[in-house]
Amino acid sequence: MAIVAVTGAAGFIGSHTVDALLDGGHEVLGFDNLRTGSLRNLRAAMVRPGLSFREVDLSRPGALAKSIGHVHVDALIHLAGLVSVIESIENPGLNFDLNVKMTQFVAEAARVRRIPRLVFASSAAVYGDSKTLPLGEDAEKRPVSPYGAAKLASEALLLGQAATFGFTVRCQRYFNVFGARQDPSSPYSGVISVFQSAFREGRPVTIFGDGEQTRDFISVHDVARANVLAATKLGICSGVANICTGLPTSLNRLVEVLASRFPSAAPPIRAPGRPGDIRYSFGDPRRAREELGFIASRAVEEGLLWFSEPASP
Ligand code: UD1
Repeated sequence: MAIVAVTGAAGFIGSHTVDALLDGGHEVLGFDNLRTGSLRNLRAAMVRPGLSFREVDLSRPGALAKSIGHVHVDALIHLAGLVSVIESIENPGLNFDLNVKMTQFVAEAARVRRIPRLVFASSAAVYGDSKTLPLGEDAEKRPVSPYGAAKLASEALLLGQAATFGFTVRCQRYFNVFGARQDPSSPYSGVISVFQSAFREGRPVTIFGDGEQTRDFISVHDVARANVLAATKLGICSGVANICTGLPTSLNRLVEVLASRFPSAAPPIRAPGRPGDIRYSFGDPRRAREELGFIASRAVEEGLLWFSEPASP
């Protein structure tokens, strides 16, 4: 069993990753500044043995290394950061601080504390408007937002330092993650959580653009499992891999599926497309299967049916 540090532990993906690590019998050191994360997400994990949590601002130099102290950490999963493409456009300086500078602090913590393995929350946003579909890891990278550019820069920072200082780094290019605990309340929230809460409350959803844009929606349970594999699987090398299902779903289809669950819902409002928006995005999942043994288990329509049950966890 391993000791794993998790940054962004109280966030949406972070808290599910903590749960999955504890399920696997691992010990977890969780860190979060609670800017967008919430202790509510860790309520179940907090009462289980194996989690020690600390509120800390990791954007301060040296804060992570200091918080880890002299605990022998086997792997560090770095999930903290700014998660919204739109927020990165509104505040590129904050995006730089939280998605590039903080990555450097994480690399320094790995070096100083001799942590042998890092797992990094990268994103499908690194591909931007690449025309090669499905998106394989070697596809052209043409980020169209500060967010995508920061994730690409962070991958390079980590891979370069891993090679220099002798640790392993796995950059996980998550596609569009959905599931319980995704906060629907902010203008920056992921589309499934926004649509779902609107349908539940009988409000109309807004579709930006013609709704024919596609995304590869992946369940947060699958993403958490991929993180545990990347942090603990024996004998893997540094590299990048898509964490996706390989299945494109358009926003119009998403609305159709939700409407079948909530038949009395109001018709969607149509609005102009958003800046920085990618048109078509779906990934090739083969590398994660070959290198991590990871296969996504839940397709979006099945996941949505489960997720839209009012009593779901
Ligand atoms: C998302 C993630 C990002 C991740 C990336 C990987 C969030 C908040 N962002 O960005 O962290 O790295 O996927 O691909 O989860 N839309 C509407 N109506 C709404 C909200 C959104 O039409 O009310 C549209 C958007 O214009 C976009 C699509 O839905 O075309 C998806 O938007 P969003 O969920 O914000 O995700 P991405 O921008 O793809």
